[in-house]
Amino acid sequence: MRIGVLTGGGDCPGLNAVIRAVVRKGVKEYGHEFVGFRDGWKGPLEGLTMPLDIAATRGILPRGGTILGSSRTNPFKIEGGIERITANLKATGVDALIAIGGEDTLGVATKLHALGVKVIGVPKTIDNDLNNTDYTFGFDTAVNIAVEAIDRLHTTAESHHRALVVEVMGRHAGWIALHSGLAGGAACILIPEQPFSIEQVCAWVESRFEVNYSPIIVVAEGAIPRDGDMSVKDQKLDAFGHVKLAGIGEWLAQEIEHRTGKEARNTVLGHIQRGGTPTAFDRVLATRFGLQAITAAHEGDWGKMVALHGTDIVRVPLDSATEKLKLVEPARYKESEIFFG
Ligand code: F6P
Repeated sequence: MRIGVLTGGGDCPGLNAVIRAVVRKGVKEYGHEFVGFRDGWKGPLEGLTMPLDIAATRGILPRGGTILGSSRTNPFKIEGGIERITANLKATGVDALIAIGGEDTLGVATKLHALGVKVIGVPKTIDNDLNNTDYTFGFDTAVNIAVEAIDRLHTTAESHHRALVVEVMGRHAGWIALHSGLAGGAACILIPEQPFSIEQVCAWVESRFEVNYSPIIVVAEGAIPRDGDMSVKDQKLDAFGHVKLAGIGEWLAQEIEHRTGKEARNTVLGHIQRGGTPTAFDRVLATRFGLQAITAAHEGDWGKMVALHGTDIVRVPLDSATEKLKLVEPARYKESEIFFG
């Protein structure tokens, strides 16, 4: 079989580990051939390919990003997009696709599968918000980067008796904020799922100062004040209709300074959370996903996504990945509140 591989959406550490595992097992154990499609769905849409064999995947296990490139191209938003994809799959002799991506990329994969394209999905996102898998690779790396930043911010905050806000990624789901805030000993954690009271945040800030600690406030980029609007940088939408967010961290720092009289500063971690080498946990998870994905393809188990359930790598229906977002449940958030203030 000739199998096309693509990576779509925001990149994340571990993508190369999946590609390597798919190709290594696919060639060595099953004798399949591979074609790399460049830049997400743009690849099959425009016929952009690159050679993908064992030699091309050597040395990429610890490398961040993706050797295939990525984009947020949505072929369903492009006139004649689906016809162009099927024509290009035919022209390149590709029988099936392994699509590595998050909500948007796997959403397209699900629709293509319904139209008869042979697809296997692999879940990826630093946000950890894909349904029907306990974890996505990239999340552990992003959390560790945020924790390292928080550890560093503690010492400078204490030297200057300041409140420091750290804005982490997470438009709709607060997993990165929750895990990094818990691991980093934050004075409070603000997530999109739980609109916050600015009065309460300031009370937590003041109580930290009272016991001679400088508070670190971890806020997800999509967190919203109660009765407030989402923090919208501008109204531009990407091809999947997501607004570009920015500003909640800066807003918080200014409000805290104004309301408490304590100096406050904001740090936006941004794309630093997505760059660089994956943690060992993400390398192993991504590798195991890749091994399962190629076996699913070899067995012709189309329309499935590989997933982590407990410690097992399983196959679940592809459409279940995007049925709903996996959000932080109220009880999970509540258990962290004991550390606030
Ligand atoms: O979905 C991954 C993610 O990193 C989100 O956490 C973030 O909101 C978004 O992508 C940023 O997208 P872009 O890289 O297109 O600005």
